[in-house]
Amino acid sequence: MTSIFNSRLSRRTLVQGSLAAGVALALGGPAFAADLPLITKPIPKTGEKLPVVGLGTNAYSVTAPEEIAARKEVLQHFPQLGAKLVDTARAYGESEVVIGKLVKELGNRDKLFIATKTLMRGDIKPGNGELEETFARLQVDKIDLLQIHNFNALDELFPRLQEWKQAGKVRYIGVTTSMNDQYPLLINALKTLPLDFIQVDYSIDNRGAGETILPLAQEKGAAVLINMPFGGRREGNVLPKVSGKPLPAWAADIDVTSWPQLLLKYNISHPAVTAVIPGTTKLAHLKDNQLAARGRLPDAAMRRKIEELWATI
Ligand SMILES: NC(=O)c1ccc[n+]([C@@H]2O[C@H](COP(=O)([O-])OP(=O)(O)OC[C@H]3O[C@@H](n4cnc5c(N)ncnc54)[C@H](OP(=O)(O)O)[C@@H]3O)[C@@H](O)[C@H]2O)c1
Repeated sequence: MTSIFNSRLSRRTLVQGSLAAGVALALGGPAFAADLPLITKPIPKTGEKLPVVGLGTNAYSVTAPEEIAARKEVLQHFPQLGAKLVDTARAYGESEVVIGKLVKELGNRDKLFIATKTLMRGDIKPGNGELEETFARLQVDKIDLLQIHNFNALDELFPRLQEWKQAGKVRYIGVTTSMNDQYPLLINALKTLPLDFIQVDYSIDNRGAGETILPLAQEKGAAVLINMPFGGRREGNVLPKVSGKPLPAWAADIDVTSWPQLLLKYNISHPAVTAVIPGTTKLAHLKDNQLAARGRLPDAAMRRKIEELWATI
């Protein structure tokens, strides 16, 4: 989607953009965008800081050598760019296995915060042991964040997650959804369960969670991960809507040089949001998205401006 990255920019944006993006794209590696400070936010329950732009991996269940190589390149550069949080799930085919293998080969496990999810109901077989397979699939001794996926078997699984946290096998526990009709379940879970994290869908084009769920999570001290920040990887993806459109000149005031960065900064700047997990399989997109974790964030007035702009698109 380099066409979006290279969309027509104002002169001012172009100058600032070429500085940041030029450093980012030309240098890569540890010196990436070194001129802009990395934004982190604390996990409310512990104060541990997380870089605000992570990685979604629901398209990491691949076997073709060139596809594996592309994902490996992303996972290699990801921590070098200052990022940490990788989100996967048992339900994403072999994504956990691919990530486990590649991270082992790259030797960068200690630089990552690995989040995964429990089984979907259909995967749960009688007897124990299925959840334990997650550690083997990811090739890790400890999981940073284990989330109940879409409320599947919540009552059965949540006590086990609590036991595992107690035993030090997982560091944080939480629940996820990306469906409006599960928002009542999410609200109830926030009110009744000791959640370290929630994960929910929120984007400029899908602001439902902003009304009730995000403020409640903030009140309850739950960290918030935002999934599908671009509306998902299917027909709901919002990036084609802005393809070829010029960025507003004021985007430069928040160190934004592309539409994906503007949309991610809109998410990150919500006060309840801890981190956003855009899915990508491409190094160029990773670098673009990681620039949203650098520099200035929109304030409330700028957030309104982004919403007003979106209403015209
Ligand atoms: N219930 C749940 O727990 C739940 C539900 C949905 C998602 N999730 C999690 O949230 C993550 C994010 O959601 P998602 O991946 O479905 O959707 P998304 O992040 O909204 O969008 C991903 C799509 O945007 C493209 N993209 C990413 N960065 C781009 C850039 N800079 N320029 C142009 N295109 C770009 C990706 O293509 P490329 O691959 O070509 O970059 C992909 O097609 C998932 O991967 C998963 O980890 C969780």
